Amino acid sequence: MKIISKIIDLNKAINRISDLGFVPTMGGLHKGHISLIKISKKKCKKTLVSIFVNPTQFDNKKDFVSYPRKLNKDLKILKKLNVDYIFLPHGKEIYNEKRLNKIKLNKSQKILCAKFRKGHFEGVLDIMERFVKLLTPNYIFMGEKDFQQLLLVKNFIESKFNSKIYSCKTIRNKNNVALSSRHYLLKSNDLIKAGFIANDLIKFKSQIMKNKNNINSLLKKKKSFLIKQFKIKIEYLEIRNIIDLKKIIINKKYKIFIAYYINKVRLIDNF
Ligand code: PAF
Repeated sequence: MKIISKIIDLNKAINRISDLGFVPTMGGLHKGHISLIKISKKKCKKTLVSIFVNPTQFDNKKDFVSYPRKLNKDLKILKKLNVDYIFLPHGKEIYNEKRLNKIKLNKSQKILCAKFRKGHFEGVLDIMERFVKLLTPNYIFMGEKDFQQLLLVKNFIESKFNSKIYSCKTIRNKNNVALSSRHYLLKSNDLIKAGFIANDLIKFKSQIMKNKNNINSLLKKKKSFLIKQFKIKIEYLEIRNIIDLKKIIINKKYKIFIAYYINKVRLIDNF
């Protein structure tokens, strides 16, 4: 396992690799990341995992400062998995070059998390482009838990580069909560609550599948119920199709998307 921080060392190390799998992370690794890494190791000759808490994708300084940082634990996990390269870039170096053209989301993309976290995806797309330029990976492995991120990165990166985004199933805990680095910030009671919410929404989806005529009022009722029952703040609870995230779901595959705060910790999921 080679740990690399400087771009010059990175270039030397991966120069001749023709089959590189890339797993971008912000650390705080969990079984979801582990599953991405295992898929990359199966599919590609070499695997590189980056750990970088990217400041430009946080719309809130407090959130950036309190984001879980667990480097020693992460490195132990990565060593056990026998990952080939770990990239721990310095912000100064990675942002050394100025962007020529600003990344802008169009109106139809400013939905769900993009609506509530101003500048978030612009920051994600920018860092992903920087990574892809440096690494030229064959595949980038990303999880479906961040479904909107996955679609935006896929459209953006695949339209500009040869790298392919490989989408990987969400990994859940025994109570059906999608694993997230932010769980480090939750009390165990809150995580149990998150499990009740997840199971409730899984049931709700099967209810909706039987009654697609009444979706808006069902959503409204469900939102009020969750707020009252679990004392959470819901940013959005919406149903959208999984192709272009529009609200048209008739004859389309669709998901329920939620973003909510439990004790000031923001969680997202989709079912
Ligand atoms: O999903 C994440 O952890 C981040 O948004 C990513 C893709 C590593 C970019 O910073």
